[in-house]
Amino acid sequence: MALTSELGKQIKLKEVEGTLLQSATVDNWSQIQSFEAKPDDLLICTYPKAGTTWIQEIVDMIEQNGDVEKCQRTIIQHRHPFIEWARPPQPSETGFHHVAQVGLELLSSSNPPASTSQSAKITDLLPPSFWENNCKFLYVARNAKDCMVSYYHFQRMNHMLPDPGTWEEYFETFINGKVVWGSWFDHVKGWWEMKDRHQILFLFYEDIKRDPKHEIRKVMQFMGKNLDETVLDKIVQETSFEKMKENPMTNRSTVSKSIMDQSISSFMRKGTVGDWKNHFTVAQNERFDEIYRKKMEGTSINFCMEL
Ligand code: A3P
Repeated sequence: MALTSELGKQIKLKEVEGTLLQSATVDNWSQIQSFEAKPDDLLICTYPKAGTTWIQEIVDMIEQNGDVEKCQRTIIQHRHPFIEWARPPQPSETGFHHVAQVGLELLSSSNPPASTSQSAKITDLLPPSFWENNCKFLYVARNAKDCMVSYYHFQRMNHMLPDPGTWEEYFETFINGKVVWGSWFDHVKGWWEMKDRHQILFLFYEDIKRDPKHEIRKVMQFMGKNLDETVLDKIVQETSFEKMKENPMTNRSTVSKSIMDQSISSFMRKGTVGDWKNHFTVAQNERFDEIYRKKMEGTSINFCMEL
């Protein structure tokens, strides 16, 4: 499948088990699948726009015992390389010759936490060694409506992803799961169902927003760390939306404009719960709720839709 981006570029996507992925990811599939996880690895897993960067920064801050300078050592994409981050060659000004190789090299040479935004059929799509080694997984879920809004704006500004079209068009694309990394419903449901069978800490974006210290403490305990209250307070402060929006190591300002055009929409856009209300029409909202009920039938998961 080929879709055209705003720049008229052909964005090549391919499907794995019915999930759309960037074609470079699929082309590197066997290398990604053969990734050898170690038993003490922690894998951060999210659906796109669920707060991946946020939890990555939180995990690194915990790992570095709240040392801000250490967390400034490099951009977040290098501190937590994506397993599936295999893309076509990037323009040289970004410093990447071939992100796919850089990503995979980093994975094998650094001590993960690595991150993945992989799709729903997790047992099929994740490198099997993560399951075989009983690794820890940190999953962050965000309510579908805010995810959709955030993803729409992300696709507008990210030239490595297809042009989302109008909001009305994107609404259909998203509910049909025809976005890169597949259906939100399958992804969230899949991880929710797995959570009691593996070492999975399942977090909600909305909870982190409401009570960051409480959720950060959970992450710290899950990571087997014990930090002082003052350090926890510092982590809360340093991982606030406002701080991360200013921080060049997290705000993607180092990424070339030809890849992410932040004049169209900022990577750190709003960071709120309930922005969907500024986008969904009443009719769209009713239709979405109906689809949601059907697709999520039988799950006990509950999302907070506004704070
Ligand atoms: P919005 O587009 O709604 O603002 P990801 O990292 O998975 O791509 O997710 C990006 C989304 O998380 C964006 O949402 C971004 O603003 C939000 N985000 C990033 N850091 C955040 C923080 N510290 N607090 C709250 N939201 C944050």
